[in-house]
Amino acid sequence: MPSYPKTQALMERGCDFLGTEYAILCGAMSWVSERNLVSAISNAGGFGVIACGAMTPELLDREIAGTKELTSKPFGVNLISMHPQMFELIEVCGRHGVGHVVLAGGIPPKGSVEAIKGHGAKVIVFAPTLALARKLLRAGGDALVIEGMEAGGHIGPVSTSVLAQEFLPALKDEHLVFVAGGIGRGEAIAGYLEMGAVGAQLGTRFACASESIAHPDFKKAFFRANARDAVASVQLDARLPVIPVRALKNKGTEEFTAKQREVGLLLDQGSVDMGEAQLRIEHFWAGALRRAVIDGDIENGSLMAGQSVGMVTREEPVAQIVATLMRESEDALGRR
Ligand SMILES: Cc1cc2nc3c(=O)[nH]c(=O)nc-3n(C[C@H](O)[C@H](O)[C@H](O)COP(=O)(O)O)c2cc1C
Repeated sequence: MPSYPKTQALMERGCDFLGTEYAILCGAMSWVSERNLVSAISNAGGFGVIACGAMTPELLDREIAGTKELTSKPFGVNLISMHPQMFELIEVCGRHGVGHVVLAGGIPPKGSVEAIKGHGAKVIVFAPTLALARKLLRAGGDALVIEGMEAGGHIGPVSTSVLAQEFLPALKDEHLVFVAGGIGRGEAIAGYLEMGAVGAQLGTRFACASESIAHPDFKKAFFRANARDAVASVQLDARLPVIPVRALKNKGTEEFTAKQREVGLLLDQGSVDMGEAQLRIEHFWAGALRRAVIDGDIENGSLMAGQSVGMVTREEPVAQIVATLMRESEDALGRR
């Protein structure tokens, strides 16, 4: 595998933690991050992460087994905190000896970190604030991903550049921090590494790789889009806290607004409770993403994409994308 000494020196702690050549993670993307993309990333020296999303334990079991057939390199599994079968999913990961579990989508449920570590796996957490990051790391998180609002999918309100300035100086000496959101080129990776990150996580840049099973029309929509087309959804009803989702503008994004109105109305009528209402909003996106990624319905489906989408212009093999990112980072570090 090609070497990029300056970049790899700065990535050393990240690589040791992940067990990889390069500390580049492909963030889990529901429907996209399945065995083909995940194994391709890991085989290219990066770290692939299966997106469990709403999968049942049986489906996750099959996906992990399928991924292991395609790679002998380390990969992780991303579990969403609100999944009702979280502990069964952790068991599945444990049975397969998955080395790293990423807990996403909110505060990890009580006992989940301990359950994962009980299987000998490492836990990667997300945190939107420094205080929460410290708490999760104290509670057993082995590494942290900070993800700015430039990212595709569910996002927080703060940009990657600001999160990096807040979190990295405070945590870099004692903790492992990976930076995500809006990274499309290696120069940006180099910048965050110099600030103390141990690696980077990208999603959008890998979503349309040759090995990605995303529908050709989904990929074409990415190739056509500019940064300004990847917009964050807005919350309509104060009672329905919508976690904003960044996706390419289409009819589906308008339908999401309509969906919020509809669910708000059901709440007014008392025909659904708050939990159910919030679930319906979340389910809208889960189903809509599948429609776009798998069925290629780029009108009504959800085209989750980050602002780096403008830098995704053609289908390329994962290994080529990884090599480009590493070379760009190495060149940038060489100039300094
Ligand atoms: C299509 C798509 C689906 C995603 N689905 C998930 C998911 O299921 N779970 C998760 O934790 N993050 C998800 N993400 C976020 C990615 O894991 C990653 O952190 C993000 O894409 C990084 O920012 P970038 O898009 O600017 O590279 C998704 C992103 C995209 C583009």
